[in-house]
Amino acid sequence: MKVTVVGAGNVGSTCANVIAHKELCNEVILLDIKEGIAEGKSLDMWQTSPINLYDTRIKGSTNDYAATAGSDVVVITSGLPRKPGMSRDDLIATNAGIVRSVTENIMKYSPNTIIVVVSNPLDVMTYCAYQTAGIDSKRVFGMAGILDTARYRAFLADALNTSPKDIQAVLMGGHGDTMVPLPRYTTVAGIPVTELIAADKLNAIVERTKTGGGELVNLMGTSAWYAPGAAAAQMVEAIVRDQKRIFPCCAWLQGEYGMKDIYLGVPVKLGKNGIEEIIELQLNADEKELLTNSAGAVKEVMNVLDGMQATAK
Ligand code: LAC
Repeated sequence: MKVTVVGAGNVGSTCANVIAHKELCNEVILLDIKEGIAEGKSLDMWQTSPINLYDTRIKGSTNDYAATAGSDVVVITSGLPRKPGMSRDDLIATNAGIVRSVTENIMKYSPNTIIVVVSNPLDVMTYCAYQTAGIDSKRVFGMAGILDTARYRAFLADALNTSPKDIQAVLMGGHGDTMVPLPRYTTVAGIPVTELIAADKLNAIVERTKTGGGELVNLMGTSAWYAPGAAAAQMVEAIVRDQKRIFPCCAWLQGEYGMKDIYLGVPVKLGKNGIEEIIELQLNADEKELLTNSAGAVKEVMNVLDGMQATAK
């Protein structure tokens, strides 16, 4: 098994590091456009292997896609991160150009790969990679839901003074402030969360989750990386180990949830073929309305991208 991570910034290098530590494959290629950075970080990480005891090789490459040839999974993290005051959508023009060129290069050398997109604005960059790759949408999807759900679960673990391991949850919609955490589908060791926490406290956690990325941008002056990198690595694990795990991922909808031609966060089953199933929940009217609202926000940015492409043609 071979996995490529494009972008050796904070998120990409964290992702490669987690993949290697978990020995998810024989080889991880970390590629970046900036001279020497991927080689340097890879060498530094590889030198942790005798300490942390793993044997997945990590190799760096400065923009030489030949090194990525024959990858089974490619994680795309390239693009500018957010600065304070910027929304994820502010990044669209620059990051779409980057994601398009990365995807073209990847497809040249790994025509059978599965692509996991992490670049922001997430839902629309996944759409951009899908259009460029020209492969089945089951093999092009985005990482957002695992991260957003992890934030929600971590906040709940704090509030309930319980292990995060016991908290299961579903969160849907776009990777933005309109995302939809679903308390009705949240349990603590099988117990509905609503039986363990007051409604106003739960609501405050839902609201904090929606702006959880922004909270970190404000603290650090740039986007988060530990949880985003680990979340992308968890998707890689489900694919390379054919785990059939159910995660919220950004998937291409063709009628599911009454939506068509849109990339949006929904629960899916992940295995060696990529998205093996899209799971349709029986949402109630309020949940449906929130999801529709989130889809509207994603569609607006997708339209901006389509408009830019039409002008460029
Ligand atoms: C976040 C960025 C990575 O949510 O989108 O932290």
